[in-house]
Amino acid sequence: MGSQYRNADRRDRNSRALIIHPVLQAEAQTRSPEACLEEAAGLARAIDLEVAHARTVKVNRPQPATLLGGGTVAELAALVADADEQGEPIDLVVVDHALSPVQQRNLERELKAKVIDRTGLILEIFGARARTREGQLQVELAALSYQRSRLVRSWTHLERQRGGFGFIGGPGESQLEIDRRLIGDRIVKLKRQLEEVRRTRGLHRKARARVPYPVVALVGYTNAGKSTLFNRMSGADAFAKDLLFATLDPAMRSIRLPSGSKVIVSDTVGFISDLPTSLVAAFRATLEEVQSADIILHVRDVAHPDTEAQKADVEAILKDLDIDPETDPRVVEVLNKIDLLEPAERDAVLVRNGGAAAVPVSAVTGEGLDRLFEVLDGHRTAGRQVIDVDVDLADGATLSWLYARGEVLDRRDDEGQAHLRVAMEPAHLARFAGMAGQAARA
Ligand code: GTP
Repeated sequence: MGSQYRNADRRDRNSRALIIHPVLQAEAQTRSPEACLEEAAGLARAIDLEVAHARTVKVNRPQPATLLGGGTVAELAALVADADEQGEPIDLVVVDHALSPVQQRNLERELKAKVIDRTGLILEIFGARARTREGQLQVELAALSYQRSRLVRSWTHLERQRGGFGFIGGPGESQLEIDRRLIGDRIVKLKRQLEEVRRTRGLHRKARARVPYPVVALVGYTNAGKSTLFNRMSGADAFAKDLLFATLDPAMRSIRLPSGSKVIVSDTVGFISDLPTSLVAAFRATLEEVQSADIILHVRDVAHPDTEAQKADVEAILKDLDIDPETDPRVVEVLNKIDLLEPAERDAVLVRNGGAAAVPVSAVTGEGLDRLFEVLDGHRTAGRQVIDVDVDLADGATLSWLYARGEVLDRRDDEGQAHLRVAMEPAHLARFAGMAGQAARA
């Protein structure tokens, strides 16, 4: 009876988690352990886990069986048992590091709680956030591959214990074999479905390529404020929560810049440090959009203590995509959350980040947005000239020539005439002037 009540109670509340960030002496630390712990706790909250306790633990020598040292494991086990006694049980222990399948199993046994590692946590988040079909398939594929590697490895482990005769299977072993085969079948099927989705996505992209609007992609570290800025720029209803990974698949909206130029703004998933390589494929769908973008806004949280390390992480990923943030003129740095900085800090941040090249903004207050739009406009019109021209509505050939070669920023029609404002490359402008001259002479 008692346990039934407890189960009922569990359904009504969020799962409570203990978050552990192991600090391995042997691993180089590029950011503070506290910030890493806070990020892990943020990731846990993003999937509605209640963070009961969060702590960093030192690991002097990683233990093959449990990663964490014996003393730490005993302390954590006591903490879990205490929480249980006080009627506030811990449902899940998140170890913010990669765990081998054996380590995961041993820790579960010692702590008497479910244990997941960093990859497992990120997979959960991807699973909860994937919106498009392709995103969902990618996540399921990554999850199954992760699971299969665990099965395969624990199976090899069993096999070794039994002397290497995998085919003389005991019951447990054959169950693992079956699981492994089922997972394998599902993976093959998923890959086929993904191919199909990709093929049709290619078609969609072609259709979009015909839309003559440049694409502005927002990239940045998770929680940098991309979604908030996206909404602010497009004036859309806010879907910005204080959650990490509010976006997994690209969202796109068109906006009109002050010059009248139209661009499509595309929000992408946040980058995180130490993304397990097995999960990189799940990002591809969004990252591909970035490669073909006309302008890439790198949104940074300049109020974050680890802002420089975050910048380095994002830039490393951009480089992987053959985008060199140092030399690629498409990349514009946006220094977000300046509302959180004291005036003196603001100045220091601006100086450190090369002054005019980076654009300071606050996505929350809207400060700096005008300047950001101007910068986008500048990118759009760089090398182009803007002319005002009146064309007879009957002159379809000239109208379609202008639409094909230039970007029509504004159009007003009256009494048989179209009054256009058009941005054009100098070469096209010269040809147009020539055509207009001929027309005048005729
Ligand atoms: P992911 O989807 O995880 O990649 O995050 P994101 O980069 O899209 O961040 P999001 O827009 O969800 O913002 C994260 C948090 O930062 C939210 O709590 C926002 O309200 C907050 N935030 C965003 N921009 C600003 C800003 O300019 N100033 C302040 N003070 N907070 C901001």
